[in-house]
Amino acid sequence: MKIIAPSILSADFARLGEEVRAVEKAGADWIHVDVMDGRFVPNITIGPIVCEAVNRVTDLPLDVHLMIKQPELYVEDFIKAGADWVTIQVESTTHLNRTVNLIRELGARPGVVLNPTTPLSGLEWVLEYVDLVMLMSVNPGFGGQKFISNTLRKTEALAEMIQAKGLDVLIELDGGINSKTIRAAADAGAGAFVAGSAIFGSQDYAAAIQEFRKLLGEA
Ligand code: DX5
Ligand code: ZN
Repeated sequence: MKIIAPSILSADFARLGEEVRAVEKAGADWIHVDVMDGRFVPNITIGPIVCEAVNRVTDLPLDVHLMIKQPELYVEDFIKAGADWVTIQVESTTHLNRTVNLIRELGARPGVVLNPTTPLSGLEWVLEYVDLVMLMSVNPGFGGQKFISNTLRKTEALAEMIQAKGLDVLIELDGGINSKTIRAAADAGAGAFVAGSAIFGSQDYAAAIQEFRKLLGEA
């Protein structure tokens, strides 16, 4: 089954606990937590304290997306705060292999993230160490942006790369996922989908998630 991961970036932060419980009840698989430092991306969001609070109100896995410089300095704090998956941007750390290994040693599942124009070739020597690769289908920093369509070709190429190496690595897409884009993203090879505005911006979270499942052929 495909993974649907609502991004709390588009939730009402004044009612964050309620919002997280609502998407869990609505059938979400993971909770996607967008961490931004105002340096790697031009926006600032949340840190481990909020992550820990989110973890307290849900049984779902937390998919923590670090859009921060030097993520190696903070992965331990986020794992202590309940992160099940920690994804780091390949552009953000000099010692990618070390940081990926650190995430695994600390008991979480490591993943790497590529910005829209970052080539897949940078994955060659890290792919065998990760459980997930996330492709950004928007420029990170904000919710509600338009899906960058050449991400579909990039997803296909990544799926081929994973298959050619005989690996079992999940492909997640982040940004601009909605009822118009999710099917093509799945057909290209993605197995997990982050959706912020398409879920939290809808009137009925369960209906939005159900529509995704239908489009994915799962309902
Ligand atoms: C963007 C974040 C995304 C964002 C997606 O920097 O990493 O997770 O919340 O939002 P939508 O689904 O609205 O594009
Ligand atoms: Zn994200």
